Amino acid sequence: MKVAPSILSADFGKLDEEIKHICDGGCDLVHVDVMDGHFVPNMTIGPVVVKAVAKAATKPLDIHLMVENNTFFVELFAPFKPEYISFHIEEEKHPHRLIQKIRSYGIKPAIVLNPHTPPSAIEYLLEDLDMVLLMSVNPGFGGQKFIDSVLEKAKVLRAMIEAKNLDVLIEVDGGVNDKNVKELAIAGVDIVVAGNYVFSASSYENAIKSLK
Ligand code: DX5
Ligand code: ZN
Repeated sequence: MKVAPSILSADFGKLDEEIKHICDGGCDLVHVDVMDGHFVPNMTIGPVVVKAVAKAATKPLDIHLMVENNTFFVELFAPFKPEYISFHIEEEKHPHRLIQKIRSYGIKPAIVLNPHTPPSAIEYLLEDLDMVLLMSVNPGFGGQKFIDSVLEKAKVLRAMIEAKNLDVLIEVDGGVNDKNVKELAIAGVDIVVAGNYVFSASSYENAIKSLK
């Protein structure tokens, strides 16, 4: 299992130190939650801070957009060369065009599904994606309770990916901890995002290890 700690739960007063700490602690990706106060009822960070995050990180960035104007934000964050940019299918009229745009920057495109959105919503986009991110909480805040129905959804999505013989990763985001990670692995999940679980631990390294 790959682990992407969400810096939403980090101490922003010492963000540089927090990022070094998770990277030295063995994380695979640094998950960056971008919220605009419109698509979700919360606001987080923009390019000034993401630039500092990219500088501090020794692992690739995984940018999760929770915004209304995806194209604008893709253009804003592309210069920081993240490994992935993911956008919500619920907020995009032209997902295929946006996938192509993300790829044109040399960035891997990913689509996010909210808890209510079925995998069939992206059936004909799957072959153009590198990753699908399944929300296991309602987007907007860290520290929420894991929604169990994501387990069945991950299994359905894994079967769809295999039926099409594709190489698409499945990532799950929200309420992940050492109790539910095993079931996620069994369901076919490749990467877990963990905010509260990692950043509330006394040892980030041990928390990351326990998820792996
Ligand atoms: C929620 C964010 C998540 C969040 C996960 O909108 O997308 O990445 O930070 O935090 P935890 O692991 O605390 O649920
Ligand atoms: Zn996220």
